[in-house]
Amino acid sequence: MSKIVVIGSSNTDLISKMEHFPIPGETIEGESFFQTMGGKGANQALAAHKLGGNVQFVTSLGKDSNGKSTMKYYKRAQLDVSLSLVTDEIPSGTAMIWVDGKGENSIVINSGANKMLSSTYIDKIQKVIAEAYMVVLQLEIPYETVKRVCEIASRNKTKIFFNPAPAQRIDAEIIKMTDILVVNETEARIISGEKSGKLEQDEMIDRLRAMGAKTVILTLGKKGSIFKDGRTVISVPAFSVNAVDSTAAGDVFCGAIAAELSKGSSWENALEFATAASAISVTKMGAQPSIPTEKEVLEFLKSNTLRIKV
Ligand code: RIB
Ligand code: NA
Repeated sequence: MSKIVVIGSSNTDLISKMEHFPIPGETIEGESFFQTMGGKGANQALAAHKLGGNVQFVTSLGKDSNGKSTMKYYKRAQLDVSLSLVTDEIPSGTAMIWVDGKGENSIVINSGANKMLSSTYIDKIQKVIAEAYMVVLQLEIPYETVKRVCEIASRNKTKIFFNPAPAQRIDAEIIKMTDILVVNETEARIISGEKSGKLEQDEMIDRLRAMGAKTVILTLGKKGSIFKDGRTVISVPAFSVNAVDSTAAGDVFCGAIAAELSKGSSWENALEFATAASAISVTKMGAQPSIPTEKEVLEFLKSNTLRIKV
């Protein structure tokens, strides 16, 4: 089956659930605490893997206890991490996550070992990128690394799936190489250089496409998403679910799209499948523990339908 190479971060997520976020200087009592596996790269890789994709995940972990338990967890999940780095120079990445009563979150990341995933290392695994069907990228590893992966992929006609999160400015050069760009509104504004805050969603998508992204998917949280390529515009609503924790909902969406495309699904089917997968993830706490299996998504779709407008 067409191979998906995800190159990105692994974090240990330290999640506190509370009714309201504390303000500066305030101390509050949390409702509960969880420690789980996360990181945008890992979440997307595991989602694509659990949802039926043939995934190779390239990441970097420390030799600390977080790194060791993460590695064990990947192996148990049968996620191929054979090309990943393990370093004793810095600790594994962490993310401190606050989740409020509405399921909204705030996150502080300490990248740690994720920083060691360098462009020099990428050069050593060029062949894997060149032979893959698709590479999936986010921005929790060095920016230069992401750029190098894009250069290798585009030279070798490997599809580039790019989720530029967390939001930051991106060279036009990278956007030009991107086949599938998945952005939320904040990311879309920053990348398109739109400062007025007045651009309509549609215009923002057009700007990103004018910059060279071939297919753009703008994710709108509870409002679904909008897809646009050269020929089609697809308006995708969301399923209404009981939101407990939206952490990694975007990652599950990305992993699901990648998996579906690698199976040869149509865009309409891929979008419906990914919207369902991310809806299920929102009903559960934590990043990776909330990723559904392919079977769960298909079950969900039997009793819930989406009205997709093409
Ligand atoms: O997208 C969610 C992820 O962002 C979390 O798992 C956390 O690790 C942060 O990187
Ligand atoms: Na979740």
